[in-house]
Amino acid sequence: MAKKNDDFFVEKKAWSIVKDELFGCYFKPYVSKILHTHRPLVYVDCFAGKGKFEDGNDGSPLIALKIIDECLLNTTMQNAQIEATFIDLNYADDLQENLKSYPKARIISGKYENNINSILRKKDNCNVFLYIDPYGIKALQCSFFDDFAKGKFNTIELLINMNSFGFIREACHALGTTFDDKFLFDDLVEYEPTKMDASEKSIKELNEIAGGDYWQKIIEAYKKGEIDGYSAEAQFAEQYCLRLGKSYTYVLNMPLRIKRGQRPKYRLIHATNHRDGCLLMVDNIYNRWESLQEIQSGGQLALWSENFDNQITDENDIEEKTIEHFSQCINWTSLHDALAIFFMKHGPICSTGDVKKILKKFEKDGRIEILRNPKTTDQGRPAVFMSEGKGKTVSVRWIG
Ligand SMILES: C[S@@+](CC[C@H](N)C(=O)[O-])C[C@H]1O[C@@H](n2cnc3c(N)ncnc32)[C@H](O)[C@@H]1O
Repeated sequence: MAKKNDDFFVEKKAWSIVKDELFGCYFKPYVSKILHTHRPLVYVDCFAGKGKFEDGNDGSPLIALKIIDECLLNTTMQNAQIEATFIDLNYADDLQENLKSYPKARIISGKYENNINSILRKKDNCNVFLYIDPYGIKALQCSFFDDFAKGKFNTIELLINMNSFGFIREACHALGTTFDDKFLFDDLVEYEPTKMDASEKSIKELNEIAGGDYWQKIIEAYKKGEIDGYSAEAQFAEQYCLRLGKSYTYVLNMPLRIKRGQRPKYRLIHATNHRDGCLLMVDNIYNRWESLQEIQSGGQLALWSENFDNQITDENDIEEKTIEHFSQCINWTSLHDALAIFFMKHGPICSTGDVKKILKKFEKDGRIEILRNPKTTDQGRPAVFMSEGKGKTVSVRWIG
């Protein structure tokens, strides 16, 4: 259901609370870790909104600024530098007012598309984090994301809220068909929904958003009745992530549900070239989702405990997936590399610790070899660690 834009900031709805919670639960550990690179952090909220909702709840800008302040206060790093920029096309004045206790925050009135390149200019060797939370899909040109990946940054991460059902609906219009699930779109409550028609112009725009024309085959299959609209959305999201994968090595596809037992309504997509950023995202998102169940009144919110068919993802399922994935590591493989690929394939269905626990059991049973460097602890005992970094490496090799 389309709503007037201004309504969005009157009261913070469950859906926005979930989005911002997930953003915050990653951003905090991200900031504290990234400061250890001794390089500046350039944070940009590309569709910032008003900063604060009229019911007093913080929007993404205040959430980010509070986290930044807390991290700067607690870090042991000397001269930590963080530059935070907030872009909004309609609400720069509200941002000025609501962020006035953060004089260093930079506010830009205008379009993300017109401003992002100048913000990122001369930011070589910095760590860049872009939060991309638009209403619709129109501003999400894939070529921009490709260009960001080519920047000479120390690291780059994108967190994108993608209304993939909105994409499918408009892709259907562009190819002369329809997909309309009243229940789904009513529940989603869209502001400024993107509208496309059956024209070459719309097809071109959708190609630009998707970063190719692969979506057309999906819609053609839907048109022929070979797949339903929900499979079309899932296939699109999968292929979109593969497409982002041309520029970013690690892309996580996180389907979000609003209510237990429902199909995903939205995709949160995390793209980075930084392997440990991907794993940090998995752990923080997974650990957070349980408490998010309380956000929706009646504890109705479920994010990843159920798969697409609403089956519960249980320990056996995770063990089976671990065997299926790690049995392909017939040569020595970095544990963190293998884990990142596991979660790209399956989404954050569990924590990295859950998979590591299963691998340790396999190590004991002689099904997998684990090579740790250093091999022994300071006391000379065999090392048992399962995390890489800070001079430690872990490699795995499947035996069978
Ligand atoms: C979903 S809201 C952002 C909400 C915000 N992340 C929060 O949690 O408070 C999307 C915002 O994008 C703004 N907007 C729309 N088109 C834009 C564009 N092309 N560039 C920048 N901002 C835009 C709208 O004014 C709106 O405030």
